[in-house]
Amino acid sequence: MNKLEELRQLKEKIAQGGGQKRIDAQHKKGKLTARERLNVLFDEGSFVENDVFVSHRCTNFDMADTKAPGDGVVTGYGTVDGRLVFAYAQDFTVLGGSLGEYHAEKIVKVQGMALKMGAPIVGLNDSGGARIQEGVNALSGFGKIFHNNTISSGVIPQISVIMGPCAGGAVYSPAITDFIFMVDKTSQMFITGPEVIKTVTGEDISAEQLGGAMTHNTVSGVAHFIGTDDTDTLMQVRELLSYMPSNNLETAPIYATSDDPNRMIPEFNDIIPDNPNKAYDMYDIITKIADDGKLFDVMPHYAKNMITCFIRMDGATVGVIANQPKFGAGCLDINASDKAARFIRRCDAFNIPLLTVEDVPGFLPGADQEYGGIIRHGAKMLYAYCEATVPKITMILRKAYGGAYIGMCNKELGADLVMAWPSAQIAVMGAAGAANIVFKKDIKAADDPEAKRQEKIAEYEDRFNNPYRAAEMGYVDDIIEPATARQRIISALDMLSTKRESLPAKKHGNIPL
Ligand code: HXC
Repeated sequence: MNKLEELRQLKEKIAQGGGQKRIDAQHKKGKLTARERLNVLFDEGSFVENDVFVSHRCTNFDMADTKAPGDGVVTGYGTVDGRLVFAYAQDFTVLGGSLGEYHAEKIVKVQGMALKMGAPIVGLNDSGGARIQEGVNALSGFGKIFHNNTISSGVIPQISVIMGPCAGGAVYSPAITDFIFMVDKTSQMFITGPEVIKTVTGEDISAEQLGGAMTHNTVSGVAHFIGTDDTDTLMQVRELLSYMPSNNLETAPIYATSDDPNRMIPEFNDIIPDNPNKAYDMYDIITKIADDGKLFDVMPHYAKNMITCFIRMDGATVGVIANQPKFGAGCLDINASDKAARFIRRCDAFNIPLLTVEDVPGFLPGADQEYGGIIRHGAKMLYAYCEATVPKITMILRKAYGGAYIGMCNKELGADLVMAWPSAQIAVMGAAGAANIVFKKDIKAADDPEAKRQEKIAEYEDRFNNPYRAAEMGYVDDIIEPATARQRIISALDMLSTKRESLPAKKHGNIPL
């Protein structure tokens, strides 16, 4: 056999992974193979594989005679929308995608290349976890991967896609990365599986209930996106990458749009209900402001009282943090604070300006919230805003009450520009609550206490239920006609595009975790 033919045959054999039977089993579960997934993720024909010939050196048990093509992971690089991206994809058809010493070394190598080249890395996880036969060498491999994840954090975007089992300590690599996607019904993440739980606590729970995609997208907040199948999920990853720069020294790519930056939105002039207790859908506001009505929602199923999403304005990526009056009146609670804080820090790390759209009645009261540490969690959000040096614009639509008014990036947290709509109400609390406290004695002493209460509420509303007091003192930079919102935000982003702000030199801050 000539050498070229030998090379081709070897590569062909390795590309078959664990063989046709296991490939068929993978397909039967509704899953693609590692290489099929990479072909969906990358621009057609652009993926270049590294370390094709790497295999294990383990001789424990029957491993000396066990072949492991590529040692169960495919690594390399290619382009997504023409931009360089690195990736690894665990191959479940080879020893269940389990992570042995050389499997880990391949991942560590591609992580190092991504960091050196300043390009995003995407990890496709589908694995039985640490390769049992390799013992501590497998555990050491995980440690190296976690270390690289941490060092690369805030330097290059790191995206994890869970496309099968991801159990035990293996979950911590995705957990350290910026974004986690899960595939509905075919992926699970847990520290200990259902069988161990049953033995230790007696609790009966299915793998899907315990760690399925919907569980982590709605209940735990561990995952940020869900896809219906492998292809849908990977297409979402491609879309997310389009909003991100390649690294922390660059800005996200500009996508040309025919959407006029000066487009007026006349319907905004009466979109806010007169009744302050009436809800409206904040998505209607964001999509109308955004280029071409398009947004990319981050954690859409978790803490729905808080919206965190990417949009484009005049072609450039903007990170939006907005209260959603449709859910829990848009109150800030533990989960909403965590969701917002993490999003703000992602944007700040990757030079994405922040637009805060505010209609917040306050922090959610209750013993559950206090016992759960709303003080600690709310503090994360404040900290994240204060620390962020990217352009920060705040637009107050309606309620901006108390600590939550500060928490949603007021002037003192570092907003570069605060715009309010004429419907804005900036006060320590809502009028009814305020009147009951401040005028308690007057109300009690009155012949008709209820009439007195209503009179005092009206007095308070008159004084504070508008943005003019705040604007008189410069806490609000301008009160704008709502129809001009898109134009005003784009003009502000343009003005802020040369913003330079640096923090005092330090090893790192001590964000309350
Ligand atoms: C070696 C493994 C393996 C592992 C699976 N395989 N997991 N080999 N080490 N960890 C092999 C199986 O022996 C099998 O080989 C093939 O992969 C496919 O596995 P199946 O069990 O047939 O597949 P399935 O029924 O789909 O079940 C998948 C699974 C199950 C749920 C992942 O395999 C499983 O429970 N595996 C063990 C999971 C686990 O406990 N891992 C350790 C986690 S602790 P053949 O040759 O028969 O096809 C951990 C610590 C990390 O990871 C710590 C980091 C700090």
